[in-house]
Amino acid sequence: MSIRIAFGCDHAGYPLHVHLIGVATSQRYTVIDYGTFDQSSVDYPDYAAKVIEAIKAGEVDYGVLICGTGIGMSIAANRHRGIRAALCTTEFEATMSRQHNNANILCLGARVIGTGVAETCLLTFLKSNFLGDRHQKRLEKIDAV
Ligand code: RB5
Repeated sequence: MSIRIAFGCDHAGYPLHVHLIGVATSQRYTVIDYGTFDQSSVDYPDYAAKVIEAIKAGEVDYGVLICGTGIGMSIAANRHRGIRAALCTTEFEATMSRQHNNANILCLGARVIGTGVAETCLLTFLKSNFLGDRHQKRLEKIDAV
């Protein structure tokens, strides 16, 4: 079964969201689009909540949340137990977020990075694997708080 990804964004993230859904679909990932569906002003926590719900329900493997900076989405997402949302601006961060942090949500800032970097971050995130071992122990300490 192909990897399932929930996408969510606000108005500022919408054009990049549409673009990355196209990229993920063309790479044969299974995509669920939780909106927003145009550039009318909305509140990013509402779309973070939809993606988080899908992850917690086991309906998807990963989430991608896009707003203007990616900061609001990452703050909102990381309030939830079991969610490890990584705001990435480089390929290196995207790799490390999976290998060391077992991130299950990639956050991107559409007003911060260009389309090419965003594509690289997304595809790198999806292809990188958690290394476990000492990193697992550290994640358990976060969950214990
Ligand atoms: C919307 O103007 C903007 O505040 C939002 O997209 C995001 O950048 C918040 O962190």
